Amino acid sequence: MRSLIETRVADRLAELDRAGLGRRSPKIRDRQGTAYRLGERRVIGFCSNDYLGFADEAPANLGAPGRSAPAGSGASRLVSGDLPELRELEAELAELVGTDSAVLFPSGFQVNTGVPAALIEPHDRVFSDRLNHASLIDGLRLSSAKVEILAHRSAPPVAATSAQGVRWWFSESIFSMEGDMIDLAAARSHLARGGALYLDEAHSFGLFEGGSTLAKRHDLRPDVVVGTLGKAVGAAGAFVGTSALLAQWIRARARSFVFTTGFSPLLAARVRVHLAALRGPLGEARREQLWSNVRLLERLLGRDRGAQLSPIFPLVIGDNARAVAIAEDLLARGWHIQAIRPPTVPAASARLRLTVSALHKREEIMALAAALGDVFRAHGLPLTPP
Ligand SMILES: Cc1ncc(COP(=O)(O)O)c(C=O)c1O
Repeated sequence: MRSLIETRVADRLAELDRAGLGRRSPKIRDRQGTAYRLGERRVIGFCSNDYLGFADEAPANLGAPGRSAPAGSGASRLVSGDLPELRELEAELAELVGTDSAVLFPSGFQVNTGVPAALIEPHDRVFSDRLNHASLIDGLRLSSAKVEILAHRSAPPVAATSAQGVRWWFSESIFSMEGDMIDLAAARSHLARGGALYLDEAHSFGLFEGGSTLAKRHDLRPDVVVGTLGKAVGAAGAFVGTSALLAQWIRARARSFVFTTGFSPLLAARVRVHLAALRGPLGEARREQLWSNVRLLERLLGRDRGAQLSPIFPLVIGDNARAVAIAEDLLARGWHIQAIRPPTVPAASARLRLTVSALHKREEIMALAAALGDVFRAHGLPLTPP
């Protein structure tokens, strides 16, 4: 006999499936870069965030000897987990993104669910882009803020001169599901007027000259920059880049930093190997290849995003079941692009979120574009947005 909770969850799962919203992780095997097996099928993946292809690299291939370091920090950083490997990595990250300090967190989700609440006070005004990542939405819910939602890519309104408190703007730099960018000119004006900017660079850190961020490339100075280590860096974890003072406060008050075991020193040492590669000639070569691949696919898909170009291509379909059916048809041809459905994206905007990596070969991109054309045509859908 099923317990009440088992029965209820079974019903909920069936409801999700009926709505085309069931989620199951595709079981990846034998991954080598963008090629892997899904069941018995060999596929090329076009949906990871390993933009520079570092995730599967052995440390020796990245040109640095492997360093041994303890697996665990053993405690929270504030108790006895503040080891040299972590401090060294933080210093390197701060230098890379051009901030005084950096604070490591086990994941980007933990950065965004802990840092906003530590920094926001009740009399602040908080503006957040409508399409911000779930971790930012949850992080703002955990703060004292009454959040004002901004239309996508629009800036907070200009404040009355008598306005009190900090005017926060929370935004991604390259938006994870849209692939477009924050309005940089508006961000500059917001900062010039004394507003505070919290910029999540999860999908842009590592992709620009020297391996840095979109903000640094454009000489924009957000108060808080979030970078993740699980995407272009090809490892896992995340950090906040900020001033020395804010870093001190975050270390003392961000609950997802204070009440968690310190970042793994073993992983920190490995991340440093990846960062050395990311910043050096291999990183430059991978970035060049990545952007050349991005431009090729942009052309093949008949898109023209101009300065908003990114490795993320949303192919918006709308209907959940249809998005899944299209993803299945592509999989049958050897292409893995996972369908993304609500609540990851807004209702009625289910899509294939196609991402390009430096490791994709020209011929693969051309073959994928042809397959996309065939499959979308068979479903009576345009591949190029009107
Ligand atoms: C914009 C954005 N912020 C934060 C995160 C969370 O980062 P992490 O995967 O390190 O938890 C993600 C990744 O999924 C993201 O896309």
